[in-house]
Amino acid sequence: MTDKPEWEIVPMTLEMAAEGNVLESKCFTVPTSENLLRTELLKPEAIYFAAVSEGKLVGYAGMQSVLDEGYMMDICVDPERRREGIARALMEKLLEGAEKAELSFVTLEVRTSNEPAKALYASLGFEQVGVRRDYYTAPVENALLLTKYLRKEKSDDPPRN
Ligand SMILES: CC(C)(COP(=O)(O)OP(=O)(O)OC[C@H]1O[C@@H](n2cnc3c(N)ncnc32)[C@H](O)[C@@H]1OP(=O)(O)O)[C@@H](O)C(=O)NCCC(=O)NCCS
Repeated sequence: MTDKPEWEIVPMTLEMAAEGNVLESKCFTVPTSENLLRTELLKPEAIYFAAVSEGKLVGYAGMQSVLDEGYMMDICVDPERRREGIARALMEKLLEGAEKAELSFVTLEVRTSNEPAKALYASLGFEQVGVRRDYYTAPVENALLLTKYLRKEKSDDPPRN
């Protein structure tokens, strides 16, 4: 049997920030520091979820909101635990949180070369709405701006005469 250990999605806590930084270092050339992660987790509008397997953080994803607008901050999964559905499960929990918070849309940036992430977002209904030129460093690269709209404009207001 080569079955991987089970994982579960739980709300991300401040105590997971140090492990979050270690995971970031495995996933990004410019990792989010433990301090910045703590700051993000402490914000009142933060929606962060973690994937935990055998007591170890194997993935996490987070979002912030301003008024009714959602901004994805981060998503990463341990390279040894990819293609197990962890990112999809994390995104589904974030989008559920966004719906509960009655956000109108969730938006994010992704490197133009990041095919796995682009496929993930496309499968969840995100669409390209713009490009941010030279947005990323190490290496410098454009970002695609992707958005998923969550609810239509209110149509139940009576028409004005
Ligand atoms: C992108 C990332 C989060 C995906 O994590 P994951 O747990 O392996 O993804 P999942 O197993 O949940 O896959 C969900 C979907 O993503 C897409 N996907 C994931 N990995 C892929 C790959 N290597 N190639 C193509 N599509 C891929 C597929 O559409 C997949 O659905 P499917 O399995 O039904 O085909 C992971 O590769 C990662 O951490 N990358 C580094 C950090 C990063 O780039 N974050 C995004 C910043 S914008």
